[in-house]
Amino acid sequence: MEPIDEAELAIEGALRPSSLDEFVGQAKVRGQLQLLLEAAAIQGRSADHILLAGPPGLGKTTLAMIVAHESGRPLRMSSGPAIQHAGDLAALLSSLTPGEVLFIDEIHRMARSAEEMLYLAMEDFRIDIMVGKGAGATSIPLELAPFTLVGATTRSGLLPNPLRDRFGFTGHLEFYDEGELEQVIARSALVLGVDLPSDSLAEIARRSRGTPRIANRLLRRVRDYALVHGGGAASLSGVRAALELYDVDPIGLDRLDRAVLEALVRRFRGGPVGLSTLAVAVGEEAETVESVVEPYLVRIGFLGRTPRGRVAMPEAFAHLGLAHHAEAGLFDNL
Ligand SMILES: Nc1ncnc2c1ncn2[C@@H]1O[C@H](COP(=O)(O)OP(=O)(O)O)[C@@H](O)[C@H]1O
Ligand SMILES: [Mg+2]
Repeated sequence: MEPIDEAELAIEGALRPSSLDEFVGQAKVRGQLQLLLEAAAIQGRSADHILLAGPPGLGKTTLAMIVAHESGRPLRMSSGPAIQHAGDLAALLSSLTPGEVLFIDEIHRMARSAEEMLYLAMEDFRIDIMVGKGAGATSIPLELAPFTLVGATTRSGLLPNPLRDRFGFTGHLEFYDEGELEQVIARSALVLGVDLPSDSLAEIARRSRGTPRIANRLLRRVRDYALVHGGGAASLSGVRAALELYDVDPIGLDRLDRAVLEALVRRFRGGPVGLSTLAVAVGEEAETVESVVEPYLVRIGFLGRTPRGRVAMPEAFAHLGLAHHAEAGLFDNL
C-alpha cells in the first residue's frame, strides 16, 4: 500500500462527507449511528461510546468526524500510538470540555496502563491519578466532563474484552460494492472537477478494492492522466492505461496483494502457511498482511484462514493463470 503523504491527506479531507446523509453505503452502521445520536440529542446528553472496526480506508475517521458534526460538538483527535503512558491519557481526558467527542484512532495500539485508566473514564467519567511512589503512593480521584469516545481499529480482535464491553455500540464497516463506489467516485469527481463518462466511472469502481480511499486515489491518478494525455476527459482507455501505470490489476489488486497471492500459490503451493511465514516471504509486517491485505482477499474468496494457516482458494490460482493444485497434482504427497 502506498504511503499517504501530506498533500494526499489534505485532498482526502476535502473529499470527506460531513453528514450521515452524504456518507455512502454502510446502511446498517449508518442507521445504528443515527438512532444513537438522535436518542442522545432528545435527552440532551453525550452519546454512548462508539467503536468503529474495519479495514483501512472504509470510513472510520470520516464517521468519527460526522458524529461530532451531527451532534454539534467539538472533536478532539488522538491515536493509540500517541498514548504511550497513562499520563498521556490523563492529560487528554482532563482537558476535554463538557460533551466533547474524543476520537482515538488505532485504539488497539494504546499503552496497557492507559487502557485501564480508560475503563473507569468511560464508565464513570472519573480517573484516579497516582501520586508518589512505593508505600507513600496515593491516588487522587479526578472528575471528568462527560464525553463521547469514538474508537477506531483495524484489529478489533486485539482489544481486551473489558475495553470492548464499555462501548455502547460497535459498528463493523464492510467493503463497498461497485454501485456504492460509483457514488463515492461520482461525488469526488464533482468536487475535483473531473469529467468522467459512466464507463470510466464503472471501471474505476470495479478496480477500487471495495475501498473509498482507494477509489478516490485512483480517481486522482486518472485525472492526472487525462490532464496530460487526454485534454481533460477521462476516457475508458485512459482509465485503463492510468491504472496499469500504477500497477492496479483488472480486479483492483495492487502490488502487495499480488505478492502475497504469488507467494501463497507458488512458493507455498497454496498453503496452509502461517501468517508470519507468509509475511516474511513478501517482506512485510505480519500486521500489515493481516489487516490490510488479507481482508479483501478473503472477501473476494481468494484466500482462506484456517487453524493450520492461510490457504489459497481455486479462484486465486485461476487469477494467476494457474491450474488449481488439486488438478496440478502439487499436493499428491499430502
Ligand atoms: N461512505 C463514504 N462515502 C464517501 N466517501 C467515503 C466514505 N467512506 C470513506 N470515504 C472517503 O475515503 C477516504 C478514507 O476514509 P477514512 O474515513 O479516512 O477511512 P478510515 O479511517 O477507515 O481508514 C476519505 O477521503 C473519505 O472521504
Ligand atoms: Mg482513519
